Amino acid sequence: MRQVYINGEFKREDEAKVSIFDRSLLFADSVYEVTSVIEGKLIDFNNHMKRLDRSMTELKFKKLLNHEEILTFHRKLLELNNIKEGLVYLQVTRGVADRSFDMPKEQIQPTVFAFTQEKKLMDSPNAKNGIKIMTLDDLRWKRCDIKTTQLLYPSLAKTEATEKGFDDAWFIRQGYIMEGSSNNAWIVKGKIIKTRQSDQLILAGITRDAVMNCAKELGYEVVYKNFSLQEAQSADEAFITSATSFVTPVIKINTSQIGEGKPGKFVTALRAEYIKQAIKNSI
Ligand code: PDD
Repeated sequence: MRQVYINGEFKREDEAKVSIFDRSLLFADSVYEVTSVIEGKLIDFNNHMKRLDRSMTELKFKKLLNHEEILTFHRKLLELNNIKEGLVYLQVTRGVADRSFDMPKEQIQPTVFAFTQEKKLMDSPNAKNGIKIMTLDDLRWKRCDIKTTQLLYPSLAKTEATEKGFDDAWFIRQGYIMEGSSNNAWIVKGKIIKTRQSDQLILAGITRDAVMNCAKELGYEVVYKNFSLQEAQSADEAFITSATSFVTPVIKINTSQIGEGKPGKFVTALRAEYIKQAIKNSI
């Protein structure tokens, strides 16, 4: 049975409980981070913590958490569950309060919980075969830069995509690709790589920053700029990035095959470079 972390304690997963009055249940009033694990070590932990602070600050949580403590319980969870490859999911909610749209004025105790998930990240079939993307209207709110647990629309979108024979969905606003249901979207044309500029409409991915550096090292120019569906469909290669997919090639967008319809040379090299660097910098 998996051991999870909740509010300072480690418990069996079937014994960890949250109140029905937790604001995360009633208002999706909570934020989260997913940190990947390779060879038993955490990838990009510090940057995930910086983004957690930012999400909490944007939502006016009254107090930030101590990163050292979070690191300690992340490592303990890996040890207790003997996780060598997979992820640690961390969620921080505003806390428990009587149901009211008006947030509690006094400081309440945030609920903090975390659990591990074993997952094959290095040798995933998606990385080997590439994935198929369908596009959908972006019906999310306009603060997608905050990593909240308001994930109903992304979950509906991913489900619709898989029911229609695709692997994931990319969201479109006013003709432009924003990002994937739980990943950032990229395209490659010649020596230029594009991923959308960061603003309030997308999440600034931690993996994205690391991948950008790897792409530069491989001699490519990275441009942060809007790109249209048509541009994506005529790209040489395309891919997604996230903590759980690293760099994963896209081989089809709607009815259009990308490149030769199989993982391209550049994306394959980029994935290998990213993994190499990620392991080197893991803690
Ligand atoms: N999702 N965009 C969205 C909407 C995301 O949900 C994610 C991550 C990303 C990529 O961010 P990062 O590189 O920091 O993982 C972009 C995580 C993995 C999830 O929800 O499970």
